[in-house]
Amino acid sequence: MDHDLDDVRSIAKRVAPRAVELRRAIHRRPELGRQEFATTQLVERSLANAGIDSLVRSTGAGLIADVGEAGSLVGFRADLDALPIHEQTGLPFASELPGLMHACGHDAHTAIGVGIAIALQELGSLPGRVRFVFQPAEELFPGGADEMMREGAIDGVEAMVALHVDPTLPPGQIGFKTGPITSSSDRFLITVDGPGGHTARPHDTVDTIFVAGQVITQLPTMLDRLIDARMPLSLVFGRVQGGMVGNVIPTTVELNGTCRSLDRDTWESMPKLIERLVQDIVAPLGATATVLYEVGIPPVVNDQFVVAEVEYAVSSVLGTHAVALTHASLGAEDFSYFLQEIPGALFRLGTQLPDRKTDLHSAWFDIDEAAIEVGIVAGTTALLRLMACDWS
Ligand code: NI
Repeated sequence: MDHDLDDVRSIAKRVAPRAVELRRAIHRRPELGRQEFATTQLVERSLANAGIDSLVRSTGAGLIADVGEAGSLVGFRADLDALPIHEQTGLPFASELPGLMHACGHDAHTAIGVGIAIALQELGSLPGRVRFVFQPAEELFPGGADEMMREGAIDGVEAMVALHVDPTLPPGQIGFKTGPITSSSDRFLITVDGPGGHTARPHDTVDTIFVAGQVITQLPTMLDRLIDARMPLSLVFGRVQGGMVGNVIPTTVELNGTCRSLDRDTWESMPKLIERLVQDIVAPLGATATVLYEVGIPPVVNDQFVVAEVEYAVSSVLGTHAVALTHASLGAEDFSYFLQEIPGALFRLGTQLPDRKTDLHSAWFDIDEAAIEVGIVAGTTALLRLMACDWS
């Protein structure tokens, strides 16, 4: 690496307090997906103060900024949106907006993205260029990543990285995983129909409740035997509704649920397979069924080469103790849209608090802000390394 790692460490140390301040400013005024106008403005202003031009999207929520000159173009993605949660942390910079909270660390992701951009700008004479993509609506479906990609946000970008806070890893550590790291997330509604009737005579009609029960128990079991056991799949029902009283068989029973997979091929095969299995389960019992299967977010599948390069960069600047192995999550992350187009990887940034346990999407969620400097050092070094790679 051409840049002295001591320079990277000292610039990151200098930039980190500004990033912490930005994180707190964003944290105070959380905005939901596609409404991140003030957050985008804060990012634009922070970048402009460091002499970095950015392009705000026409919607006003989300922006892109390039740092560097000629050479390979690589990307860093940060998400901007908050959640409809009423913050309970009691922090001095807690949300000032009732019912809205940065409970997934996107405030930190954005502040770290800005910090890395400023650090790279200050370092100068880069081996390439970095495209910073600050995207709206990660928490929504459809999400902002897909939208920005369609608008050309990653045109010409060779590879892309992102990080997500992880309350189970201590600050100073970064979690790495090759292959799938987050899951796909699809939703479905299965409707079981029959003529309805008296519970005394199920043989004269169709026992829709019983048929729905067969779907609930057989569908996951059948999938278990039809899907490669090395490709985890999780089909879980979240809502079952049918009938009004104990002595009437209803005409309709509705089953809602989600289907999650860590494997792209499995994910792609799900809509047809579930349709077929549901029809096969209900047919012998005389019921009819409709399946509304809503294909959602793809899994994030980390590229082996990008993971290896970033792991090398992180261990060179922070030491091998900073590198942790991490597991895949069955949660979804719309960064996957970018990785369907170009190689890249998502990393987990340790943000565990010293004194208490918190989880993402909790009203008590918080991060150890020491992780912000770690994120800037690691991200800056990783992007320097990726810019210098041969992507041809
Ligand atoms: Ni998140």
